[in-house]
Amino acid sequence: MCGIIGIASNKSVSVNIINALKKLEYRGYDSAGLATITNGEINEKKCPGRVEKLEKILFQNPSEGNLGIGHVRWATHGVPNEVNAHPHSSEIVSVVHNGIIENSDELKRVLEKSGKVFKSQTDTEVITVLLTEKLKNLDPLNAVFETLDMLRGSFALGIIFKNFKDFVIGARRGSPLAVGYSSNENYLGSDSYALKAMTNKISYLDDGDLCVISKNEVKFFNSKKDKINKEIFTLSEDKSQASKGNYKNFMIKEIFEQPITAKTCLKEYIDKIRGEINFYNLPVDPKKINKIALIGCGTAYHSCLIAKYWLEEFTSLSVETDIASEFRYRKVRFDKNTLYLFVSQSGETADTYAALELCKKENVKTCSVVNVVESSIARNSDCVLPIHAGPEIGVASTKAFIGQMLVLYLLSLKISEIRNDIDRKEYKNKINELKKIPSLLSESLKQEEKIQIIAKDIYKSNGSMFLGRGFSFPIALEGALKLKELSYLHAEGYPAGEMKHGPLALIEDGLPVVVIAPKDKYFEKTLSNMQEVIARGGKVLLLTNSGGKVISENIRFQIDLPESDITLTPFLFTIPLQLLSYHVALFKKCDIDKPRNLAKSVTVE
Ligand code: G6P
Repeated sequence: MCGIIGIASNKSVSVNIINALKKLEYRGYDSAGLATITNGEINEKKCPGRVEKLEKILFQNPSEGNLGIGHVRWATHGVPNEVNAHPHSSEIVSVVHNGIIENSDELKRVLEKSGKVFKSQTDTEVITVLLTEKLKNLDPLNAVFETLDMLRGSFALGIIFKNFKDFVIGARRGSPLAVGYSSNENYLGSDSYALKAMTNKISYLDDGDLCVISKNEVKFFNSKKDKINKEIFTLSEDKSQASKGNYKNFMIKEIFEQPITAKTCLKEYIDKIRGEINFYNLPVDPKKINKIALIGCGTAYHSCLIAKYWLEEFTSLSVETDIASEFRYRKVRFDKNTLYLFVSQSGETADTYAALELCKKENVKTCSVVNVVESSIARNSDCVLPIHAGPEIGVASTKAFIGQMLVLYLLSLKISEIRNDIDRKEYKNKINELKKIPSLLSESLKQEEKIQIIAKDIYKSNGSMFLGRGFSFPIALEGALKLKELSYLHAEGYPAGEMKHGPLALIEDGLPVVVIAPKDKYFEKTLSNMQEVIARGGKVLLLTNSGGKVISENIRFQIDLPESDITLTPFLFTIPLQLLSYHVALFKKCDIDKPRNLAKSVTVE
């Protein structure tokens, strides 16, 4: 999973390639590279590490040339080092690649038998070697088509040729690829976001398509080599510029932006005059379905889990949740009376997209909850419900999670209203309570100082546990995920009632245990589970909203959150968990916005 860029221009391209790569770093940041055609030769520069490092290399030794490709990598085959970084070039061709070539080992063995030598451990290099061979007898377009025929897997490519200095070839097989247009300059990119600083005119390649990009023209071909035309979209202006402002890093900015994110999202969906929830374009009549299936990965999956509780609370529908990488390979019984709902911040997550494609093949109705409305998942689902969170740059998802939960809450309420599962008064009451979310989130953010003290106390621990029941169980999972991805501290999320069936064995003196216990119907039961932890030496951090009451003297820390409608506690209880993982990671001097081994958008399986 990586980011690719290609530019054909009438002026030098390396600065624009670097700028676009910086935007693509959310897809991978363990190495970076570019290749230009300089004085008739392929000029490749690459390094392990961030784009900034590549920029410094170029500063000392600039790469001239009006045609080039660039890459940021998230290692799949081979460690992140200079040799494995992209592009992978021979004397006559240079390739950048996003995705996985599943039969690369097979191809490599055959090529090695015929005397070909490989420099790297990557799957990409087989493409370079194959193309180099085919270019002996074929023109670039046919060489690419023939090579593509030999590859299995899901990928996108950008290719330049020493002897054809006028164009970049792009190809899409499963992984997204966009084309951008400007005057005397055209672009290829993994997504429109990377191209946005240069153009707002974009086309998207479909699966199997290939494009030839020169400075004054872009040609498209389908997999049968027929020339095709593509629609050109004009992208909306991005008002919320992705800059850190006065914040230390993007994550803390995004955490503190959440009241505004919530306000914007609510404004988009709640009619100001009638106070009604508006969802105009649902692909099914909620009265005619009997089930909702929610599918996502990572944090997005956790918002699906919470939505299950809301849908079950507000409607008479059956609800299923699935992790996309499981759903896509399970023997799912597809059902025309089910609405399949996909949740994804980026809208590009490979597993979620594959699960959506599967639904499309089965001709069932799909709907997506996304942040990036130009994304592949948004463009391919029957209906899109944007979360309106603005660009989220920190790899660990924060404001997008709040946005996903909000849209799913609104949707649950609306469906229950349409189906007459909820009475009008209760429905209106819930909307009024929901409108308080922005100010309640601001209140919750005031706990930061206390949380800093807690973080200092626990950051040297070897592990941690997060417990909750009901709505608070998925929040416990999300709290544990945030802590592990940001601070590399081992963290387990568990339903509090499940502790006695195994995880209790992990409790030992001083182990931090975060207990999420709002005053709901589970409150007493969760507190009993907490006592079991305390009795075994666990160091408890209790999150509650019980009005500042001291619940037990044996609790090490207690955070009191504002009171709210009981179904809204997931929003408020998320905030201290985000802040906790942030401050633990700060104490541990971790890279907050780009945690090790991760990427913002996972475009490989
Ligand atoms: C990556 C990110 C997570 C995110 C997950 C799903 O693993 O690091 O923060 O939750 O992908 O991403 P999506 O864009 O589909 O919500």
